[in-house]
Amino acid sequence: MKITLNGKQIEVNPGEYLLSVIRREGIEIPALCHHDAVEPVGACRLCIVEITRPEWEGWSRLVTSCLYPVEEGLIVETHSKLVSDTRATLLDMQLARCPDAEIIQKWAKEYGIEKTSFPVREDADKCILCDICVRICNAVGRYAIARTSRGIEKVVAVPLELGEDQACIGCLSCAHACPTGAIEWKEDSNTRTIWGLTFTLEKCPVTGEVLGTPQQLDHFAKKAGLSRDYFTKSDKAHKHETAKKFVKII
Ligand code: SF4
Ligand code: FES
Repeated sequence: MKITLNGKQIEVNPGEYLLSVIRREGIEIPALCHHDAVEPVGACRLCIVEITRPEWEGWSRLVTSCLYPVEEGLIVETHSKLVSDTRATLLDMQLARCPDAEIIQKWAKEYGIEKTSFPVREDADKCILCDICVRICNAVGRYAIARTSRGIEKVVAVPLELGEDQACIGCLSCAHACPTGAIEWKEDSNTRTIWGLTFTLEKCPVTGEVLGTPQQLDHFAKKAGLSRDYFTKSDKAHKHETAKKFVKII
């Protein structure tokens, strides 16, 4: 199957999304709500591209590339004037929502925006409501965070009522996946704090490395169908033990 991307004809695979093709071709566009580990939802709209076909006789439309599957003969522009102007407006709005988010500042600058033209949100944080954290937490199998309302604002938070098997396990998957660094967490040598909860940390008795929180290790052992004992030592310690066994065999 072939499409034309920014004037160049390229081979694509049926079923793949335009954003994967764009990235494979080394073209950079912002795609902040996209994460390879979870299904796309099209929340940020920043990955928009302009598509057309010869038979559309000059008519074109904007689509979110993370959600749009390739089609034979499609003509795609990632940086047309319409795309750039629309993307710039979206970034301008995001900058008003999250003025301190470095990734937004960077992309806004690339589209010529140093300062937002919209009123800056009161109590602005760095959350662009992309839902990556919520989707990742669900994929981990916990459902511990969700979008909730704070006055007229929507925010991501820990819901007030959660089942025991939904509670946060302090695994940090959400914080590591967040594109804007909006999720605050901290760790000292013995504890980890995230979403207002403090967990003790379990360490490898051989190497002293932090293994995670006990709740996280319980959950991952259960999910992977592995013995919990496997998670009481670090990978380094496991490798070391295996190497020692081989030395004995030889
Ligand atoms: S906290 Fe981060 S990952 Fe979660 S919705 Fe906000 S920006 Fe997205
Ligand atoms: S990455 Fe496509 S809408 Fe956000």
